[in-house]
Amino acid sequence: MDHEGKVAVVTGGAGGIGRGIVHALLARGVRVVVADVEGPALVAAVDECESRGAVRGVRTDVADPDSVMALADDVYGSEGRCDLLFANAGVTSGGGGLPWEQEINDWRWCFSVNVFGVAATVLTFLPRMLAATSPGEIVATSSGDGGVAPVPYASVYAASKAAVSCFIEAVAHQLRSVDAPVHAHVFYPGGGLLDTGLWTAARNRPPALERIRPRPPAPGTTFAEFKAQLEAAGLPTTVVDLDWLGAKVLDDLDEGRYILGPDADRFGKLLHARADAIAHGDLPPTLLH
Ligand SMILES: NC(=O)c1ccc[n+]([C@@H]2O[C@H](COP(=O)([O-])OP(=O)(O)OC[C@H]3O[C@@H](n4cnc5c(N)ncnc54)[C@H](O)[C@@H]3O)[C@@H](O)[C@H]2O)c1
Repeated sequence: MDHEGKVAVVTGGAGGIGRGIVHALLARGVRVVVADVEGPALVAAVDECESRGAVRGVRTDVADPDSVMALADDVYGSEGRCDLLFANAGVTSGGGGLPWEQEINDWRWCFSVNVFGVAATVLTFLPRMLAATSPGEIVATSSGDGGVAPVPYASVYAASKAAVSCFIEAVAHQLRSVDAPVHAHVFYPGGGLLDTGLWTAARNRPPALERIRPRPPAPGTTFAEFKAQLEAAGLPTTVVDLDWLGAKVLDDLDEGRYILGPDADRFGKLLHARADAIAHGDLPPTLLH
């Protein structure tokens, strides 16, 4: 895509991986609307990004379809277009642990953002992007955890990301079947350890969806603990440069790939092992194998 005069919307763009995507878009001269629920972080992100290009923030809760509709009205009212849509906002389910110790409110919060949020973002923007009849790209941020294989102690999150990957794959097929000028892609962040705000996602958890039975977070659910666990197991602990990751997403888009992100090869090998296990009627290997 020629990026001259193009407009991008990045949900969850105030921090972490989304901010890396914002930086990469601005470096290519794209006008960027950052949509994020965390007001102070959004203001700080826009302040930091202003020297890089044309950027503004719209406070948005992707779990609220009216908020996403207001975002789209704002974008089409002010910018007149959306060429690149990044449905990136996501949360954990708040601490992980044994699947049967998760509560319904863990499911509700995680799915409200990761699944209903992605659905609302796509359902609200895609018809307008198609009506524009110009080339467009939709990127949904999934995770290898669930999108490829579950991390068993992150069962709710994994289930949500499996839904994202499956939904976007269906969207991509249907867009292709009607030869639409808009394409959909799935992004699997990776390349090493990601030191982002996901580890403290509960900062944005709505009080109405708090746990009924508070409990301490499961071991390994802070970034420092997780890194220490890997170090103790002799596994690599390289921390990914999030600006590099954001640029990688755009490079992979340029190549016309459906799967975006650095780990496609590793995931492909794991999926072969999973397919073999399934064919034998065995429990497939997890993302941690
Ligand atoms: N960090 C990882 O290891 C990892 C791995 C694979 C996939 N991901 C996915 O990458 C995406 C970005 O996560 P991150 O790691 O950068 O975490 P992050 O917390 O740094 O960024 C997520 C952003 O989403 C925002 N957000 C949360 N709830 C929202 C809501 N209801 N509406 C709008 N914005 C909301 C947050 O304020 C934050 O700015 C997520 O979808 C996450 O699931 C992360």
